[in-house]
Amino acid sequence: MVTQASSPHPDSLANSTPRIVSPSDHHYHPYSPAPSATSQTASEQNRSPPSVHSQPKQHQSPITANTLASVNGGHGAYSSHDPRIEKPRVTLEDFHIERTLGTGSFGRVRLVQYKPTRQFYAMKVLKKTEVVRAKQVEHVNNERDLLSACSSPFLVTLLGAFQDNINLYMVLEYVVGGELFTYLRKYQRFPPQVAKFYTGEVVLAFEYLHSMDIIYRDLKPENVLIDSRGHVKLTDFGFAKHVPDITWTLCGTPDYLAPEIIQSKGYGKAVDWYSLGVLIFEMLAGYPPFYDEDHFKLYEKILAGRIGWPSQFDPLAKDLVRRLLTPDLSKRFGNLKGGSQDIKNHRWLMEIDWAKLYNRQIPAPLIPQVSHTGDPSNFDIYPETNEVYGNYTASDPYRSKFPTF
Ligand SMILES: Nc1ncnc2c1ncn2[C@@H]1O[C@H](COP(=O)(O)OP(=O)(O)OP(=O)(O)O)[C@@H](O)[C@H]1O
Ligand SMILES: [Mg+2]
Repeated sequence: MVTQASSPHPDSLANSTPRIVSPSDHHYHPYSPAPSATSQTASEQNRSPPSVHSQPKQHQSPITANTLASVNGGHGAYSSHDPRIEKPRVTLEDFHIERTLGTGSFGRVRLVQYKPTRQFYAMKVLKKTEVVRAKQVEHVNNERDLLSACSSPFLVTLLGAFQDNINLYMVLEYVVGGELFTYLRKYQRFPPQVAKFYTGEVVLAFEYLHSMDIIYRDLKPENVLIDSRGHVKLTDFGFAKHVPDITWTLCGTPDYLAPEIIQSKGYGKAVDWYSLGVLIFEMLAGYPPFYDEDHFKLYEKILAGRIGWPSQFDPLAKDLVRRLLTPDLSKRFGNLKGGSQDIKNHRWLMEIDWAKLYNRQIPAPLIPQVSHTGDPSNFDIYPETNEVYGNYTASDPYRSKFPTF
């Protein structure tokens, strides 16, 4: 059922400038200029245009906007009760903290080792002041609550969450193979078989999330992690939301935004299928279907929907990408009566044995080089900060905003 939001009505993009998050920590990539003390500007972080194939792209930060309104009454469906962290309750002091694996808009992810078992995990650390300043309180609470409500082989598992007086911490399963982003940069583009494998596993991840009425909203190669056997694990539930019908929030990563998000229409799960079309295109072409350094020009291109197809693009893949990137929701694959089955039955993906893929019995096309379970070598090296974790004395005005941490 499609319900109209009450007030406030969402602004249109014409009169609301989407806030481009300027991360305090920046992504550095081996292909980008060496990390230095000088911060990159937000625009420097943008990806290289498609025409400059020799210039590998850099990580791209998501955009966010305040939640304008939502017909979904929050995340009340999920209780804060998480049996996995109840007994014994995990705390920061239980971990050795090792190097940074990745940085995002509001914090960083560190490799950690759980002292009692010596097992490795990834710990996402978010500064409460930053989260509040960027009006991401609801998103961060969603991230924590939805992650703990989910259980799928294609999604990272949340082991526990807690806070000190400064930071929020989420302890996640450590996905040792690194980002799909890294492999895509290394190979520039993937052969069809490789792209089909990742497409298939992302389809299964989305099927699971959508069955839970969760929209993911931030598909991009940086958020697709590769496990030790080469299988997909989606991370970053920073924009995931329980949405049984429609929502209005302007958020996502510019290259991957569906037209209906840009137009500030109410939107639903179909935005994830749109972003899958962007990912398929990017895996096969080596660059996204729409690109401009200026976000407003980029949005115009997305709305115009004119895709510059590389000459060698497989006609069947082209057909599927077209059906996913269509702005017409009554035609978009994934959003029709057949649901995700239309995508799974499409001729480009026809050879996939979906039951085998679901059981992770199809051998992955790329197996990461991993020397031990806590090997961080598949992740880029980031400048470390000398932040102290575990501050329980500073003033903590925001604790009550994060009740499930
Ligand atoms: N479970 C994990 N195992 C290994 N590495 C991880 C894990 N989760 C996240 N990372 C690394 O940390 C990076 C940043 O994490 P994440 O995307 O969750 O942060 P973010 O702040 O939401 O990022 P952004 O807002 O820029 O998309 C990821 O791209 C990945 O490289
Ligand atoms: Mg991310």
